[in-house]
Amino acid sequence: MRTPLALRVVLVSLLASAAVAFARLPQEEPAATDTPMMVEMEKIEQAANFLRRSIADPAQDAESLQQIAVAQQAILVSKLLPPKMAANVPEAERPKFLAEYRKTMAQLLIEFATLERAVIDGDREAAKAAYKRLHSMEEDGHAEFTDGG
Ligand code: HEM
Repeated sequence: MRTPLALRVVLVSLLASAAVAFARLPQEEPAATDTPMMVEMEKIEQAANFLRRSIADPAQDAESLQQIAVAQQAILVSKLLPPKMAANVPEAERPKFLAEYRKTMAQLLIEFATLERAVIDGDREAAKAAYKRLHSMEEDGHAEFTDGG
């Protein structure tokens, strides 16, 4: 059955205004309760989500390199910040906990630099391998350095 013209006009204008409203939504504003590190981690996450698809596409190399730079800068900031969980680690063990955290973040920076080199070289396989490694670091890093609170 054909939709009457008037109804189609209403539907199209509703869709158009919904699209405008969506475009105006604030983009991933950090929550007031976020720690400074969470703000940086969210930048890493947005960059990594973009890179998951973009590294396969040579047409997106310039934007991939831009997103890699965003993630690297966020890592430079967050590796100097103590994880919230550090406060719950017994004082005697805290220096080791913080050293391990910093070493792991340094490794994450290395993986992003490896990804950067692979994108510049146009080596898709190396790029995918570097992405896989840095992605698996997310789960391990959170298991070791967050206590879910
Ligand atoms: C690509 C890798 C990573 C991504 C995309 C990522 C993403 C995130 C995101 C989105 C958060 C915010 C909290 C949440 O919503 O769960 C977070 C928190 C956190 N992440 Fe990561 N993360 C990554 C790697 C790591 C690594 C390797 C470590 C440890 C060395 C780490 C340590 C933390 C800590 C400690 C917090 C809690 C913040 C705080 O304690 O103040 N993350 N991460």
